[in-house]
Amino acid sequence: MQGFQRTHDLGSLGTDHIGQSVTLMGWVHRRRDHGGLVFIDLRDREGITQVVFYPDVSKEAHELAHQLRGEFVIAVKGEVNPRPEGTANPDMPTGMIEVQAVQLTILNKAKTPPFSVAEEGEVGEDLRLRYRYLDLRRPELAHNMRLRHKAASAVRRFLDDEGFIDVETPMLTRSTPEGARDFLVPSRMSPGNFYALPQSPQLFKQLLMVSGFDRYYQIVKCFRDEDLRADRQPEFTQIDIEMSFIDAEEIMALMERMMGMVWKETLNTELDTKFARISYADAVSRFGADAPDMRFGLELADVTEHVASSDFKVFASVAASGGAVKGINAKGAGTELSRKEIDDLAGFVAPYGAKGLAWIRIKPDGGWQSPIAKFLNDEAREGITQALSPEVGDIMFFVADTKDVTNLALSKLRVHLGKRLGMIDENAWAFCWVTDFPLLEWDADAKRYFSMHHPFTSPREEDMEILATDPGKVRARAYDLVLNGTEIGGGSIRIHDSEMQNIVFEALGIDDEEANEKFGFLLDALSFGAPPHGGIAFGLDRLCMFLCNADSIRDVIAFPKTQKGSCLMTAAPSPVDSAQLRDLGLKVRKQK
Ligand code: AMO
Ligand code: AMP
Repeated sequence: MQGFQRTHDLGSLGTDHIGQSVTLMGWVHRRRDHGGLVFIDLRDREGITQVVFYPDVSKEAHELAHQLRGEFVIAVKGEVNPRPEGTANPDMPTGMIEVQAVQLTILNKAKTPPFSVAEEGEVGEDLRLRYRYLDLRRPELAHNMRLRHKAASAVRRFLDDEGFIDVETPMLTRSTPEGARDFLVPSRMSPGNFYALPQSPQLFKQLLMVSGFDRYYQIVKCFRDEDLRADRQPEFTQIDIEMSFIDAEEIMALMERMMGMVWKETLNTELDTKFARISYADAVSRFGADAPDMRFGLELADVTEHVASSDFKVFASVAASGGAVKGINAKGAGTELSRKEIDDLAGFVAPYGAKGLAWIRIKPDGGWQSPIAKFLNDEAREGITQALSPEVGDIMFFVADTKDVTNLALSKLRVHLGKRLGMIDENAWAFCWVTDFPLLEWDADAKRYFSMHHPFTSPREEDMEILATDPGKVRARAYDLVLNGTEIGGGSIRIHDSEMQNIVFEALGIDDEEANEKFGFLLDALSFGAPPHGGIAFGLDRLCMFLCNADSIRDVIAFPKTQKGSCLMTAAPSPVDSAQLRDLGLKVRKQK
């Protein structure tokens, strides 16, 4: 700007600057026009500074100031003064001073924005997404983006200091097997062929280990075409890490320190960086889920064997058919939950497949009040008492179904009741490592095994002998990091031996031909001296949701997509013109 050079940002002026001549630039946040005096709250990303226009200081500037409207961009020259008695605002960093304007330039005008940047009120998300650049001016998103930057830069500093090398990997690549649907990019130069956008850089980072890079990291975009949820986006960011000559314990210990640094540098919080560990089997048995929220108890107990011979047909038949009957004891909640609430809980678990929710309330005289109590014989009563230690005032809930449905329904009910009954410490950071995942997962529809993580995950050596006979029981050298019930990262020690890789492909029903077609380059690479290696990837967006205390992943992403995967600002995805399609050898079929 001619004649103007910014001297200070709008968050830094204080009493130390009184008497100085300054030049400020920014947006008109609020304007109060008292006729004689015009006050402008001038805003930039660092804060807000009050500017006053007095007619007798500069008639010209004062006159021009009448034209100012919200979100105009201006430059002001003036002098820092103490605010007059009684008008200082000690709660504001710049609240002790104001700038008396001598000269004003309007750098740019602004139309009236579709929602107020200055007022905090609720604005519909669609409108906020359409005018994302305006929403990003508002304090909440601006704060989130800066915290995200701090987190990413703490990660970079940590990994740089630990000897990691940042290497970029391709975005136009082949399909990678993380298990979601791929986003495809048609190739003009080889019509009929497609690149896939990477679901993660998994194979490339392994190849970098074969190349001898030893320690790799990248903060990288990943793409997965899956149904979106509050913590899922079609493109999201991973902190992707791989290391050679390392074991799972070392990786976990390093990552604990990294999380410690991130929490320290973003929230100034000292974490206890010895995170809890729990095996997958224990997590599912005690919490019903592989990403347990460890901020509270309310654990599940298995009562299948105790109720197998009871007269409650549902329990007996589920037990007989190999399902599970499990319960939780909401301690002291017997009187807190009304009868209607209890009945509504059956509706809460229904979407997870539970066909009912049995309950037993312990009355003041110790008796059991329950729709099913009359069907429970002594053995069932004793077994339940032993498993759930009910006391006067407690209420127990039970689900009987297949193991998966029982665990899922009760794990959701556990979290629901934990919140409802105030059992969750909202300030706690309950990190835990979930280890010893099964290598394979049976898919009843496809009638075959799939990798629980990905096909390059190393099985535990001692389980190798049962791979052929009892593949479902083989444990992987895999670990997830869970925070307050959300998976924020996952990784594994990889297979570094092409023979072992072939054995695992075989267990997955991937024959030689398919293995060579899809992963020939990896098998090849493993045969040229691949070091033992392993790694992990964190969802940076999910981490930031925690750091920013955001309910939606969209609130920590500058330009996110809606639940339907569209960008309301750019209107992507959009149709393309026929010439582009012709170039690509594509024809669009009419959508039904
Ligand atoms: P995984 O598939 O478990 O592992 O992904 C790692 C982490 O990425 C985050 N994440 C997502 N975040 C937002 N939106 C999504 N759609 C989404 N999908 C995943 C999660 C998850 O924990 N290559 C392996 C890692 C490895 O083995 O090193 C991988 O991608 O926080
Ligand atoms: P009913 O005999 O169907 O009236 O069920 C009696 C009680 O058992 C009700 O509280 C039901 O919610 C509960 N119930 C029914 N099916 C199940 C099930 N599969 N698991 C747990 N409770 C159930």
